[in-house]
Parts: sequence; C-alpha cells; structure tokens
Amino acid sequence: MIGTLLARPLELMEENFRRPTGRAGRFFGNLMAVQHRSLTAWTIEHMDVRGRQRVLDVGCGGGMAVKLLSGRAAQGFVAGVDYSMEMVEQAVRRNLPAVARGRVEIRHGDCSQLPYEDASFDQVCAIETFYFWPDPLAGLAEAYRVLKPGGQVAVTLEMSREAADDPSLTQRFFGRRFTERSQRAGLHILSGDDLVDRLTKAGFQDARFVSEPRRSLGWVCALARK
Ligand SMILES: C[S@@+](CC[C@H](N)C(=O)[O-])C[C@H]1O[C@@H](n2cnc3c(N)ncnc32)[C@H](O)[C@@H]1O
Repeated sequence: MIGTLLARPLELMEENFRRPTGRAGRFFGNLMAVQHRSLTAWTIEHMDVRGRQRVLDVGCGGGMAVKLLSGRAAQGFVAGVDYSMEMVEQAVRRNLPAVARGRVEIRHGDCSQLPYEDASFDQVCAIETFYFWPDPLAGLAEAYRVLKPGGQVAVTLEMSREAADDPSLTQRFFGRRFTERSQRAGLHILSGDDLVDRLTKAGFQDARFVSEPRRSLGWVCALARK
C-alpha cells in the first residue's frame, strides 16, 4: 500500500473514497472519519436531529456520522448502510456500545436497494457519497421510500460548483486540480441547484440548499421533505 500511495496517491485516494477496500480502504475509512467530521457536524446542524427520531445514513463509511447522529437522537435509533464490507466493520467498531444496546445498526447494502422497510425513518442523510452512486435517481427514490411522510432527506457534498469564486489558497493550489481530475475520472461535480433539481425529480418537496463556498472544495447540503 505504501508503494502505491507514493506512486499514485490521488488514484488510490479516489478508489478508496468511492469504495474503501482492503488495508488501504481501512486506512482511508479512518482518515475520512476525521477529515469529514466538521462537514458531518455541519450537515447534522441543518438536519436538526433529536429525541426519539429514527435516522439512516446511506454510504456511512467508517461510521462517524452514525456516532454523532446517535448522540443527537439520544432516545432514538440510527442505522448506517454501506456497500463496502470494510466500512461496515469499521462503523460497527466505532459504534460498538450503541450497537450492543440496539440503538445503532450497521448493514451491508447498496443505496439503490436499501435493506429497510417503507416509511421506517424520520431522517435520511448521505454525506460525501452521492457522486459515486451509479444511478443517483434510484438512490434518491430509495431514500424517499424508506422515509416516513414528512420525513427529511439531506445530501451533502464536500466538492461542488458552489466553491468560492475568490478561492482560498488551498482551493487555488489543490482544490481546483483535484476537482478537475475527478471530473475527468467521470465524477459529476454538482451545484446546489443541481441537487435541488434531482431531489424534486425524485418526488421530494420544499427542496433547498445551504452552502459554505470557502470550506474545502465548496460544501453544499441539499435538504427536502417527503
Ligand atoms: C467518500 S466515502 C464517505 C463516507 C462517509 N459518509 C463520510 O463522510 O466519511 C463514500 C462512501 O460511500 C460508500 N458508497 C459509495 N457508493 C455506494 C453505494 N452505491 N451504496 C452504498 N454505499 C456506497 C462507499 O463505500 C464509501 O464508504
């Protein structure tokens, strides 16, 4: 892994952001748990999670969002789903006491076929995962299906077209290059309006977005109701 990391660091990073696998996957899972912590906390602020709510995190990675969410929904239930077995194991480990108490559950599964009943959650979030979904509308349709009527979805991206026009130094020297690379590799870099449009197409109501253009590569979080 060290050899690959030195020879082609960006490729290794991209592969393991998309689907963390093996030893490198475990390393990037832990890295993302730390690196996405403030993005995750920002998303959770906007979701307004509390009390007895049932919350699902799609593409949960190493389980940091699940951990923060279960602190908010203190009498509720939080589930995480990821299609990487390495991330399922890591998310379980990161939430072990809550898993043991039955307040947290991590399942192996795909965003386009969520392993949960219709209308079983008050909130669904997807943090820094949406651009990897092979059929984004199918994924949003699944989020819609598992939400209760009136339930809320939140889709957050760390890299978007909301990035500042007057970029910070990091954005100028690292961010732009990384965004352009990702686009060449087939990733769709979306704006807040693009996300709102997709949520509306999937049947959600009152879609809106908030952004932090100067954070990382342009934080954006789109929110909508079933
Ligand atoms: C960049 S990581 C983000 C992980 C976590 N949400 C975070 O913010 O740290 C993207 C995650 O989405 C998962 N993922 C990507 N496509 C998926 C799909 N089709 N179904 C389920 N999980 C998926 C990956 O396995 C990976 O753990």
